[in-house]
Amino acid sequence: MFTIITGAQFGDEGKGKIVDLISGEYDLVVRFQGGDNAGHTVKVGEDVYKLHLIPSGFLLNSRVLIGPGTVMNPEVLAKEIDMLAEGGIELDANRVGVDSKTSIIMPYHIELDGLRESMRTEKIGTTKRGIGFAYIDKVARDEIRMGDLVNRERFIKRLGELAPSKEAAIKELGGDPSIVMDETLIDRYVKLGERFSSYITDVSYEVNRALDEDKNVLAEGAQGTHLDVIHGTQKFVTSSCTIAGSACANIGVGPTRVDDVLAIVKAYITRVGEGPLPTELFDDAGKQIQEVGGEFGTTTGRSRRCGWFDLPLLKKAIYLNGYTSIALTKLDVLSNLDPVKVCVAYEMDGNILDYPPEDTSALARCVPVYEDLPGWEGDLTGVREFADLPQEAKDYVIYLEDKMGVSVDYISVGPAREQTFKK
Ligand code: IMP
Repeated sequence: MFTIITGAQFGDEGKGKIVDLISGEYDLVVRFQGGDNAGHTVKVGEDVYKLHLIPSGFLLNSRVLIGPGTVMNPEVLAKEIDMLAEGGIELDANRVGVDSKTSIIMPYHIELDGLRESMRTEKIGTTKRGIGFAYIDKVARDEIRMGDLVNRERFIKRLGELAPSKEAAIKELGGDPSIVMDETLIDRYVKLGERFSSYITDVSYEVNRALDEDKNVLAEGAQGTHLDVIHGTQKFVTSSCTIAGSACANIGVGPTRVDDVLAIVKAYITRVGEGPLPTELFDDAGKQIQEVGGEFGTTTGRSRRCGWFDLPLLKKAIYLNGYTSIALTKLDVLSNLDPVKVCVAYEMDGNILDYPPEDTSALARCVPVYEDLPGWEGDLTGVREFADLPQEAKDYVIYLEDKMGVSVDYISVGPAREQTFKK
C-alpha cells in the first residue's frame, strides 16, 4: 500500500500527529520535499518532540527516509538524532536513510536567504533556513549532494568550485563572504559526512522494492498545499512542490502505485508569514483561536495568523491533491465560539466566486461570504469517539464533509495520540 499525506491549507495542520498515529501500519515513511523549514510536534505520553527534518514516523519503528527532492541541513539532522538519543530513541542507519541525491543546505544558503529577505520591500516571511537558495542551486545544478558530502575529496573539491560564486553573491547582497569557507566549515562538514556515510540510500529503489514486496509506504508532505511553489499563493510560498503528485515525482515512484491520498485539514485555518488569507480574523474570536490552539510556529516561534474555515481554498486543495480521505484536526479549539463561521464563497470585484481566483493579487481582494453554524460549549479534549461530541460539533464536521465531498476519517481534539479517533 502506498499512501500520501499532505497538508491541505498553509501548513501546520497537524500532519506530524497523524503520521505518528498511523505510521505503525507502515514499513517506510518518506519525506519527499522541503527541508527543516517544516516543524512538527509529536507528543507521546509525557514526551514532546519538536522536529524539523526527521519524518515523524520514527516513533513506531518504521524506517524513515529523506528523499532526493528534499534539501537537507546535516547539522540539523545531527542535532535531531542526538536529541532523540537523549530521549532513548536510537536512530542509526537501519532506521534512517538519506538519498545520495539529496541536496545539502550549506551555511551560505542560510546567509543568502536572510540577506535576500531583508532586502525585499514586500517580504515573503521565509523561515530563513536556506530552503529557497538550496533549491536554486539544485535547479542550477550547483548543489552539493549527500553523495558529495560523504566523500571527503569530492566534498572539498565541489565546495572549492562553488565558493567563489557564493562569496560574490553574499557580497552583492551586503553580507560577509568569509562565512562561505570559514576556518571550521570544512572540518565540520567532513565530520558530518563521515557520520552519515552509512545512512546513504537510493530512496526510489527502496520504495519501489518495498511496494513490490507488498509492504506499506507512507509519503509525508511538509508545509501545505497553498504554499506549493507552482500552485500556491505565489510569491508567498515555499520553494518546493507540496502537493500529492509531487510525492511521486520527488521520490521516484509511478502514480499508478498510489493507493490513498490523505488530507490533513485544520478545523479552521492558519498561516505563518506573509500572503493572502481571506478569512483572517483580527477580532476576539481570532485571538481566542490563536491562544487556545497554541498557534505559534514550531520552527520560528512566530504567531500564526488565524481565520475561519475557508471552503474555496479547501476545494482547490482537493483538486490539486485528489484526496481520498480527510483527517480533521484541532476541532476542540473551536469550542466556546458562537457562531462558528465557514467561508463558503468569496465576493470579488462585485462577483461571487466559489473557487479561489488563480491570481494571488486577486485572492488578496477576496472578501469571504460566510455561513453561520451554531457553536458549542465545553472542553472537547477528553472526547474519544465521534458519538460523544456535542451535537453542534458533530453537525459542524458533517457540514464540512458534505461541502468538501470527501469523507472525514479521523478527528483530533488534542496533541496526544489518544486524542485522535476514527470518525
Ligand atoms: P521558506 O519555506 O522558508 O522559504 O518560507 C516560505 C514561506 O513558507 C513562508 O511564508 C513560511 O512561513 C512558509 N513556511 C515554510 N515552512 C512552513 C511550515 O512548515 N509551515 C507553515 N509555513 C511554512
